Amino acid sequence: MFLKLLALCLFAFLIYAPIAEARIRRYKWEVKYEYKSPDCYKKLVTTINGKSPGPTILAQEGDTVIVEVTNKLLLENLAIHWHGIRQIGTPWSDGTEGVTQCPVLPGDTFKYEFKVDRAGTYLYHAHAHAHYGMQRESGLYGSIRVSVPDNFTEPFAYDYDRSIILTDWYHKSTYEQATGLSSNPFVWVGEPQSLLIQGKGRFNCSSASLTADTCNTSNPECSPYAITVIPGKTYRLRVASLTALSALSFQLEGHNMTVVEADGHYVEPFVVKNLFIYSGETYSVIIKADQDPSRNYWMTTDVVGRPPTTTQGLGFLNYYPNHPRRSPPTVPPTGPIWNDTAPRLAQSLAIRAHHDFIVTLPTTSDRAIVFLNTQNRINGYVHWSVNNVSFTLPHTPYLIALKKKLHHVFSQTPPPEGYDLVNYDIYNVSKNPNATTSNAIYRLGFNTTVDIILQNANTMTVNNSETHPWHLHGHDFWVLGYGEGQFDKNKDPKNYNLVNPIMKNTVPLHPYGWTALRFKADNPGAWLFHCHIEAHFYLGMGVVFEEGIDKVGELPSSIMGCGRAGGPPVLYSPPSHIGKHVMGAAPRVYGGEYVSLNKGPVPPSAPNPITHGP
Ligand code: C2O
Ligand code: CU
Repeated sequence: MFLKLLALCLFAFLIYAPIAEARIRRYKWEVKYEYKSPDCYKKLVTTINGKSPGPTILAQEGDTVIVEVTNKLLLENLAIHWHGIRQIGTPWSDGTEGVTQCPVLPGDTFKYEFKVDRAGTYLYHAHAHAHYGMQRESGLYGSIRVSVPDNFTEPFAYDYDRSIILTDWYHKSTYEQATGLSSNPFVWVGEPQSLLIQGKGRFNCSSASLTADTCNTSNPECSPYAITVIPGKTYRLRVASLTALSALSFQLEGHNMTVVEADGHYVEPFVVKNLFIYSGETYSVIIKADQDPSRNYWMTTDVVGRPPTTTQGLGFLNYYPNHPRRSPPTVPPTGPIWNDTAPRLAQSLAIRAHHDFIVTLPTTSDRAIVFLNTQNRINGYVHWSVNNVSFTLPHTPYLIALKKKLHHVFSQTPPPEGYDLVNYDIYNVSKNPNATTSNAIYRLGFNTTVDIILQNANTMTVNNSETHPWHLHGHDFWVLGYGEGQFDKNKDPKNYNLVNPIMKNTVPLHPYGWTALRFKADNPGAWLFHCHIEAHFYLGMGVVFEEGIDKVGELPSSIMGCGRAGGPPVLYSPPSHIGKHVMGAAPRVYGGEYVSLNKGPVPPSAPNPITHGP
């Protein structure tokens, strides 16, 4: 008997031993406000376990990540999105408030659980919307690094692996910014005060009359971020952007960068001096520490695409054993010309799938949807729209509404499939900038192939077209092509790259240009597709896709409890960590006000408050 058991165990061991076991990676996070001085200016920052950026999630392909997050923000709702993770089989863990879940209320704990099914560089960030949205830009973000399976060889070699996230940083609170966006006349916060590299930047405190307590350039919290490198070694540097507004370029003084990965996909390598990066994108670059090791070298980031009134973001490469605080002896190199779109378009076009990792794509699509991107007015209030519809979220998250067939909780009138390609003048301010709002969604046939053509246009400012980084939840798409000017539906598809298109989850739409994408609607759920600029999404620049809703498994009750979503009790109970007396009157923070932002009469001669924003 014993021998038999032993044999059985041995047999089991032989079967399972060669397969590295997928692990569970557990995290416990507490989200709260703290005073911090990331760019030397002291303000409230949303932190995870006291840090911003938050802890890096490290996992291996196939692992399960479990994050238990407690909302200690006192008054704000919370949801955290795992940007780039497709949530196959777990659409309720996507962390999109209003789309895939009800928000996590102050005092509550929510458990996210999902599989990281593909190696690569990903991100996480707050994705609460509603009135106070914008927690991402007040510091709630971090990196997810998923390593390749054992015995897998990547198409490039390196000795060390490092991650940085680039962000832009405002001194005004997100409340002030959001209030401005939804005011008439419109109040635009303007350009960010600084750029942060891995949460560190430098504001020129003497440029404003601030006390040393408010702004202090000798505060170690704002000493520039340094990556220590060993001379002669090769580094994989994972660079990501989670800016609220800015398109960026990134440089390493004296070092070329070889781009090898984009949004979790291997790239046919190419070398750059400036890496252009848009909010929501991730890249891996290979660098070699092969310069004169007696000094350190600047790491810089600059705003492109908008008049750069924000000072350059600075960090440096610290050649070991030089002192990690010793600034490079040179003047930091200046960035590229801010309004030269050509090199940015050229980089977009240069990104192709690595020849050994091409994911073959369907050569035709079942449906092509054109999304005209415009800035608009609705009752005098500024909005952003696709096809003249500015997106709003319903009270009941779509995933729940769809699964439970609550058809009355959002508009059932299908949103527009396109616009008048021929007659819309993308180069001029629209004569009629008026748009409408809707919470209708695009329902896609399960497993069908869908093409999206993003078309840019002039904003409401003369001679101005913005860059919009579009991000798709739940999928990667193939990037079929980019073009300048108006998309020609007869001519342009003939030039689509069907040979080696890169797959991505975030892609820029360049000024006055178009971008074409293809994806398979093969992931049951409800998925947001939106501009990753905080203010643009806040003002309606997004859509939702649904596919295969009948194939979605049973929804966890933890995502419910708002709108008509049933689930746990809807009544607000004061969070345990704050006095009932103080908070007694607090309403349920979520609930019911998404659409009412922009009511009010139109002043007949409303001045145009837009200079260069949003
Ligand atoms: Cu990184 Cu819906 O966002
Ligand atoms: Cu945008």
